[in-house]
Amino acid sequence: MSLRDFWYIAAESRLLKGRPLASVILGESVALFRDLEGRVGVLEDRCAHRNAPLSAGRVSNHCIECPYHGWRYDVLGSCTHIPSLGEGVKLPRHTVRSYPAQEQDGYVWVYMERANPRPPHSGSLMSENGAGRRSACGHGFIPTSRPA
Ligand code: FES
Repeated sequence: MSLRDFWYIAAESRLLKGRPLASVILGESVALFRDLEGRVGVLEDRCAHRNAPLSAGRVSNHCIECPYHGWRYDVLGSCTHIPSLGEGVKLPRHTVRSYPAQEQDGYVWVYMERANPRPPHSGSLMSENGAGRRSACGHGFIPTSRPA
């Protein structure tokens, strides 16, 4: 079992509104965003065009928009818009890596492998008094093993 075979907390859900967020998990920079339907996307934080950080962009039309030339990516990492191509031009296929993500207990969990992961946690992280459990480190990453 590798370190990639775990779920990690990337952010508190309440912080993911409006603007994208940046995070680093296992040394990989990721950009998190929530589309207009509430879905969470976690993509590598590097535009397929010229490597600008997507986390510095904005959310636009269900996508994260690169701050440099405006390429847009959906929650699965597929490029959906290239402004310089104009209307009616077929998009070439460009993608950035996307990671499985899930919200649970007020956190956005990210799985660093591409395989179909099991849910991040079989039970709630919240204690009976609702106080919750915090990670020991300052960034809130809590590795949790896959349920048996
Ligand atoms: S670097 Fe992202 S659109 Fe050009």
